Amino acid sequence: MSDFFMDTYKRTGLVFVRGSGARLWDERGGEYVDFTAGIGVNSLGHAHPALVAAITAQAGRLIHISNYYQSREALSLAEKLCTATGFDRVFLCNSGAEANEGAIKIARKWGASKSPSRTTIVTLEGSFHGRTIATLAATGQPKFHVNFGPFPAGFSYVKANDKAALAKALGSEVCALMLEPIQGEGGVVPLDEGYLREAARLCAERDILLIADEVQCGVGRTGALLTSAQMGVKADVVPLAKGLGGGVPIGAVLARGSAAEVLGRGDHGSTFGGNPLAAAAAVAVLDALAAPGFLDSVAAKGARLMGAVRSWKHPIVKEVRGKGLMIGIAVNVKPDRIKELCLERGLLVLTAGEDAVRLLPPLVIPDSDIDAGLGLMREAFDAVLAESRAS
Ligand SMILES: Cc1ncc(COP(=O)(O)O)c(C=O)c1O
Repeated sequence: MSDFFMDTYKRTGLVFVRGSGARLWDERGGEYVDFTAGIGVNSLGHAHPALVAAITAQAGRLIHISNYYQSREALSLAEKLCTATGFDRVFLCNSGAEANEGAIKIARKWGASKSPSRTTIVTLEGSFHGRTIATLAATGQPKFHVNFGPFPAGFSYVKANDKAALAKALGSEVCALMLEPIQGEGGVVPLDEGYLREAARLCAERDILLIADEVQCGVGRTGALLTSAQMGVKADVVPLAKGLGGGVPIGAVLARGSAAEVLGRGDHGSTFGGNPLAAAAAVAVLDALAAPGFLDSVAAKGARLMGAVRSWKHPIVKEVRGKGLMIGIAVNVKPDRIKELCLERGLLVLTAGEDAVRLLPPLVIPDSDIDAGLGLMREAFDAVLAESRAS
């Protein structure tokens, strides 16, 4: 491990050198099944031929210009994103937090256009919206706030899935409600569909923007391009990132109606945002997702994975939740210990929230790798159970 890095991540000593599909190899030749996709990023897996070809060709032509000029790749990406999702306009940036910052700025300026007092953004307890100061303020988990205040004012938090509390919280000072259709870092907790629909109804009735943070759940992960639409809701603003570039950093803020017209010249910007390299990568990802049957196959793979884990009726499993290939397995042991035991066996998994093992495999993972990973995970579950019985 390097002493040159700030010590911000709890890393293993593994050094990966190569990947293909849902498999990874470390520098000692060890082979792993990847149920993490770089935290939901490598949507097309590792070294996907179409993605590699797109970025290789693009790197040889044009990597960066600036947003004073246009590139065919960014134009194509903006058009594809908007037409595929039914949104009107997009702002391109580089990460999830940056996309959420853009959404927050849209909400604030939109609110200001209605009344100077409409500045509050309501978010949900248990949410995660990013690591910048404003997105931390939006994040409804106090543990992330410790030592980093003071935070910008104008954020308030409400209990998820409580319609009455939401109705009370959406007062005349509120410009936007921001939520994740499936809380990712919070433990892979899908919102109740009835709650999400009621939230959208209340926002429409009270002229409040609905921001669906789909940084983790969006771009095919749940078997649909947008999870909010899949759950029956059309948000006003949708920040995206993670899976959009298949591993090349990119974020996007989709907006529709008046929310799409809020930001004018000079209101917002991003030096790297929408550069031709990242845009070419995202176009390759969107093209792959648009292939007939692709999104249905994600749903089927998710059902295979979740169905298998449920069928084990394993004593450590409390609940299997999620949608498509965004899966949380709530366990009654320490999820971190399971992560270690999986790694020892050649399987990468994530954790989330207090009690969940989180699975975000590449969207292209073959059934054979799902089954191989399941076999390793079951061994790890058995091992952790044996440990807990021995102690
Ligand atoms: C829902 C959600 N929003 C925002 C973010 C922040 O994204 P990034 O790490 O790209 O800034 C994340 C990251 O996990 C996320 O899951």
